[in-house]
Order: sequence, then C-alpha cells, then structure tokens
Amino acid sequence: MKFQKKILCIGAGYVGGPSMAMIAYKCPDYKVTVVDINDERINRWNSNELPIYEPGLDKIIKKTRGKNLFFSKDIEKQIKENDIIFVSVNTPTKTFGTGAGMAADLQYWEKTARQILENSQSSKIVIEKSTLPVKTAAAMEKILMLAKGKVKFDVLSNPEFLAEGTAVKDLENPDRVLIGSHETKSGWRARQTLVEIYARWVPQEKIITSNIWSAELSKLVANAFLAQRVSSINSISALCEKTDADISEVAKAVGMDSRVGSKFLNAGIGFGGSCFKKDILNLVYLCSYYGLQEVADYWESVVKINEYQQDRFINNILGSMFNTLAGKKICILGFAFKANTGDTRESPAIYITRKLLSEHAEVIISDPQALKNAAIDLEDVKGSVKYVQDPYRAASGCHAIAILTDWDLYRKLDFRKIFKLMVKPAFLFDGRNVIDHKKCFNIGFNVYPIGKPALSHLNIIQND
Ligand code: NAD
Ligand code: UGA
Repeated sequence: MKFQKKILCIGAGYVGGPSMAMIAYKCPDYKVTVVDINDERINRWNSNELPIYEPGLDKIIKKTRGKNLFFSKDIEKQIKENDIIFVSVNTPTKTFGTGAGMAADLQYWEKTARQILENSQSSKIVIEKSTLPVKTAAAMEKILMLAKGKVKFDVLSNPEFLAEGTAVKDLENPDRVLIGSHETKSGWRARQTLVEIYARWVPQEKIITSNIWSAELSKLVANAFLAQRVSSINSISALCEKTDADISEVAKAVGMDSRVGSKFLNAGIGFGGSCFKKDILNLVYLCSYYGLQEVADYWESVVKINEYQQDRFINNILGSMFNTLAGKKICILGFAFKANTGDTRESPAIYITRKLLSEHAEVIISDPQALKNAAIDLEDVKGSVKYVQDPYRAASGCHAIAILTDWDLYRKLDFRKIFKLMVKPAFLFDGRNVIDHKKCFNIGFNVYPIGKPALSHLNIIQND
C-alpha cells in the first residue's frame, strides 16, 4: 500500500506509544513508526504484553500494529525514511552540575537532535512532543542548522497534554491541540502539515496555533496550574483537620463557582507522576535564570506544600498509632501515582513506604497494576516489604491500612470482611478520601481521612 504520509516518533514511552497509536488509528493511510533506544521496550510494544497499562490502548494497538503502525529498533534507517519526526524522549530533572535538582536534563534531547542531523538526507519537520524548557527549539535549531546542502529543518512545538490512565480518551477527544511554529513562511507551511494530521479527528476550533516559545511555555504553565490546584486544596485540608471543616464540602462549595471550576480539587496525599514536580522545578529554574526570584519562589511553594502533605500523612499515622510503628504491619492499598495506571514514577507511595520502613514497620503492598514497578522502586530498601496482589490477603493480620491510590476497586471492598482479618484496634488511613468513612467507622475501624475530622473509637474512650 502507498501511504499518504510517513511519520516517525523517537521515544516509545508513555507519550510516544499512545499518541502515535492514535494517529495511526485515525489515519489508516499514514504509516507511523515508533523507535526507541530501549530494545526491551520495542519488543514489548511488538508483543501481547504492552510496556504500559492504559485503558483502551490494547484495542487500538491490535487494530493498527503491523498495518500502519510499526515499532522498530532501527533508529537511523527510520530517520532516513521519514520526513515528519516527532520527538518524545524523556526530559528528567538534571541530577548533576549546574541546575541539578531543578533544570531539565536535555542530554537525551540533544543526542536525538544530533542523530537526526547525521541521518537526514532530505528536509524534515521535527516536532517537539516532549515537555521542554522555553527556548529549547532554539538549541535544537542550532544543531540542525549544521546540515549540509539542501537539507533544511523546520522545528515545531506540539506539547502533549494527555494524562495517564485516561490517555486514549484524552488523545481521541483533546481539550486542545497546540502547535507552535516560527512566524515565517516555512514555519507556517510546517505548522499546516501538522494541523492537517490532527484535523483528521480533532475539530478545527480545538487546534490552536501560536509562536513556538508560547507553545513551549504553555505546557510548563499548564502543568504548574494543575499542580497548584492540588497543592491549594491540600493546604486547606490541613486547616480543615484543625477546624472540623470538611474538605469535600469546601471543595464543592468553592468549585461550583464557574470561575473556579470543580475539577482537580480532590485533596489527598499530594501529586505524583513523572511530570508535575519536574515541570514546576523546571519553571522555577527558568524564572531564577531570568532573575525573577519572587516568581520562582511562588511556584516552588507548590512543590513544598506537596512534600508537606506527605509528611503530614505519615505523622498522622505515627501519632494516631501511639507514636510507634516498630514491628506493626501496615497494608498499603495502591502504589501507582494515580488510578488506572501501573506507573509509579514520583508516586507519593514511594516516599511514604520508605518513611514507614524507617520507623521499622512491616509493609505489605497491594496494587492491581503497579506491583512490578513498586518492587523496582523499593529494590534498595532494608526492612520487611511484601507484595500481595489480593487486597484481602494483603490486609490480613495488619494493624493498619493506608489507601494511597484512588483505584475504584477500593471503594467496593468488603470492609466488614477486612476488619475481621485485622489486628485490633484496626486503623484505616484514607489518603485519597475514596471510601465510605462513616460506614467503616461503624464497622469498628478508627478512620483517618484527609481534611475531615477523624472518626476514632479511641478518642471516645479517652473522652469518656
Ligand atoms: P518515557 O520515559 O516513558 O519514554 C521516553 C522514551 O524515550 C524511553 O523509552 C527512552 O528509552 C526513549 N529515549 C531516550 N533517549 C532516546 C534516544 N536518543 N533515541 C531513542 N529513544 C530514546 O517518558 P514519557 O512519560 O513518555 O515522557 C516523554 C516526554 O513527554 C517527557 O518530556 C514528558 O515530560 C512529556 N509528557 C509526559 C506525559 C506522561 O503522561 N507521561 C504527558 C505529557 C507529556
Ligand atoms: C498530568 C496532566 O494532567 C496532563 O495534562 C499532562 O499532560 C501530564 O501531567 C504530563 O505532562 O505528564 P498525569 O500526571 O498523568 O497528567 O495525571 P494527573 O491526573 O494530572 O494527576 C497527577 C497527580 O495529581 C496524581 O498523583 C493525582 O492523584 C494527583 N491529583 C490530581 C490529586 O491529588 N487531586 C486531584 O484533584 C487531581
């Protein structure tokens, strides 16, 4: 079959895999290839056990793989053969040198730019899909400008806004697609090529264009605003716990103002995931770099509240359980950073588990999708950690349960059965406010939600 367009994506991760699968699904006359330096990842994309868990992704991969969607290890050959190249390699926080702990580590990005330069025999459109500091396109262009002869490159910024767990839905029906380009004839031409791809399934009014720097910056700012909402509601949850106000009631009342909106106001143990912290720190670094210290401090406080919220949760466990966890068994329900993913990157559960272990607690971890990643995250820990898929078996013989992920299945658990299996007094710390607290209290649990009064039988005894 002769394909209308040939598209390549470098980086077969959480973004590259699903976003290219969606293009292939919506555009059967385009050939889409995804490459990666990680051979194991490519093998898994070509197998029945995909490297990431994402609801609905299997179905799309089955419909496209081997027809117009291909996963390949041969990066150099694919660069030669494709004229539209998305780059969605990872851009973690730098761990060394200037900007360590704050700035983005652009080594993977720069390597990719050089590889594109070395293997290009024709002009190409290169599209930044990774999240990058504003002005990265300029650095990429400086490398690509070294091209010899007639080979020219147009660099576009097309940041991805999908969230894990809802990636397929977000890609199929995005709030917006953002495409940034240079305001030049060839920039506009390149931008139009990309608009035409998305226009196959995204309504025109949702495809927005901008200058390239605005597109790069918008992605960082979008994540910073979302994370800021989580930190805002979490900061108020601390005040609720001191004043007997209820964070769910406050969030509802505040969120019903259409200027504020009701989404992203769930208090919990703080945000995790590979991006929020990394992208805010990147924004903070950029602000400091440009001498905007007050702005940098403002955004850094979003990360500080997130850390504070996790410490508050641990201190609450320790305080409620008579200030000692040594030798006690704690069952962790949920290790993924959010529901419907197996991803544990920056999951609050990692920090919380490590803290519990440092108090010499025994930890039993249960999660429907994330146990493999949990075991990797905790590879180096000393102390007793067990991984048990079944939540009932995991909770059996435990002194406390801590719910750390908002998996729907935890709402449906038979807590009467679980209570019977546990050591008494049984403690239940709901770090995501997902279960029926009154019902569990009536069963006999001492229940500690986030941002709501604790429901404790022990307080009643003390007060009598
Ligand atoms: P990831 O780590 O899952 O995937 C990145 C892939 O790039 C890895 O498989 C890695 O092996 C590969 N890679 C690195 N260098 C390479 C090279 N030189 N050549 C070929 N492959 C290379 O990361 P991700 O979660 O997909 O994120 C990618 C980018 O997208 C990041 O900038 C992230 O901030 C952004 N983003 C992520 C999400 C998300 O939900 N995970 C959403 C929106 C944006
Ligand atoms: C987030 C953004 O939502 C995406 O738009 C963006 O593309 C992506 O980051 C990225 O750049 O990587 P993601 O991290 O996958 O997506 O998941 P979110 O749904 O945003 O949740 C992030 C964290 O915030 C989770 O730990 C979640 O539990 C927490 N959260 C979210 C809350 O604690 N309360 C809320 O009300 C919402």
